[in-house]
Amino acid sequence: MKDIPLKCLFVSSEVAPYAKTGGLADVVGALPKKLRKHGVDARVAMPYYQSMQGKFFEHDEHFLTSYNVQLGWRVQGVGIYYDDHIVPTYFLKSDTYFARPELYSYKDDDERFAFFCKGVLELIRHIDFVPDIIHCNDWQTGPLCLLLKDKYSHDPLYADIKSIYTIHNMKFQGIFGRERLELLELSPDYMSQEKIEYHGAISYMKAGLIYADKITTVSPTYAEEIKTYEYGCGLDRLLSEKLNDKIEGILNGIDYDIYNPKTDPHLYVNYTYRSIQRKKQNKAMFQKEYGLQEKDCMLIGIVSRLTDQKGFDLMQQTIDHLWVMDKIMQLDVQFVVLGTGEQEYEDMFRHLAYKYRERTGVFLAFDEALAQKIYAASDVFLMPSLFEPCGLGQLMAMRYGSVPIVRKTGGLKDTVMHYNRETKKGTGFEFEEYSGYWMYKKIEEAYEYYNEEPEHFKQIQLNGMKKGFSWDDAAKAYMKVYRDII
Ligand code: GLC
Repeated sequence: MKDIPLKCLFVSSEVAPYAKTGGLADVVGALPKKLRKHGVDARVAMPYYQSMQGKFFEHDEHFLTSYNVQLGWRVQGVGIYYDDHIVPTYFLKSDTYFARPELYSYKDDDERFAFFCKGVLELIRHIDFVPDIIHCNDWQTGPLCLLLKDKYSHDPLYADIKSIYTIHNMKFQGIFGRERLELLELSPDYMSQEKIEYHGAISYMKAGLIYADKITTVSPTYAEEIKTYEYGCGLDRLLSEKLNDKIEGILNGIDYDIYNPKTDPHLYVNYTYRSIQRKKQNKAMFQKEYGLQEKDCMLIGIVSRLTDQKGFDLMQQTIDHLWVMDKIMQLDVQFVVLGTGEQEYEDMFRHLAYKYRERTGVFLAFDEALAQKIYAASDVFLMPSLFEPCGLGQLMAMRYGSVPIVRKTGGLKDTVMHYNRETKKGTGFEFEEYSGYWMYKKIEEAYEYYNEEPEHFKQIQLNGMKKGFSWDDAAKAYMKVYRDII
């Protein structure tokens, strides 16, 4: 049994490089690629969004097939495009549902992703690939696990297919009105606690959790945290009581082909841990290009979605009658922020940029090349998250010798180790209590090392750069999970 190659179809609403709003895309862009190197026939299915039009493929030769998908009383056509220059990928094209400027936040998201789930299940009838495993990710794909188990498994074509559901973020659950059951052709008895009811509505995430053969999440600590009231977003008891045996935490990696300071084409100067002194040139040239004062002071970097999850409200607390943000700026530091998100935080950083014009670079945008420049130019990297399923920014920062300052939660706890000056071990700075005071204290600690004990600071940088967070370990862990359930 062990020698037959596994066949796994990843299903995701976003996949790098095709479409990305967050870490989910990075994961599904990298993991299947790595699994293929380990001999798994891993493939991917995703929507064909308007933003991809003309960018990745447009040519007719990528057209594979088309068929109809039934959603309740509605019938919608879907065109399948296929590309395999990175990983064999099936793109589901529907002008009705996906030819829109954004990926999400439309009134009919429930219908759009019900269509996607059903479209992917139907796809299996039209291609020469019957997976052993369908690997679903986040709420957009939850209904697929339900449909597979209750509607499709009676058909011999689907009878042996197992599903796994990976939680990248508990907070986004896909909660919709009960009247939408008809989209999935589900009878009213699915509106029960044992099934997909959630406070009088239906939950796409719950459909994934209950009906998948296995649940994983993206770090061991988060796998435990989501079973608690604080982190479970209302599903903690379901997870801790009913589904406990089905959950496993597997730490994400990063794609070392892309995130490598030795070869990264976006950097001003490439470097490795042996030539880490060249990192400073990246800071100097960054300051010059973006109009920051040209001096060697500690540069704090942030690359993040600007949402509540990421802990930026801590900046608005006060210490000594000062905003934490102003308190930080009293140190001889510079600040660079890249990201988009909630208005409140965008405004806060706009204000910062206005107040400390020559010491801050604030980019309210989504720009991968600039992100990589920031990892290389910054000395420390701030991630004070309220919760963090895994977090990829700290892994990238460490890879580029930028020292992470993080709150000890989820994947941050699993990947960053507080520096110990006696043993010279550790890769960053951690604080546990969710408070602006402790965040500030850790920035101050890093600042003292940076200015007064540069040999220690360099040691922390090197420790981080040498740490391996490649996808190999995760790929092996997922393969074991796959083998266990088929
Ligand atoms: C989500 C989580 C983040 C995780 C990523 C990939 O974006 O917020 O912590 O790293 O998914 O799994």
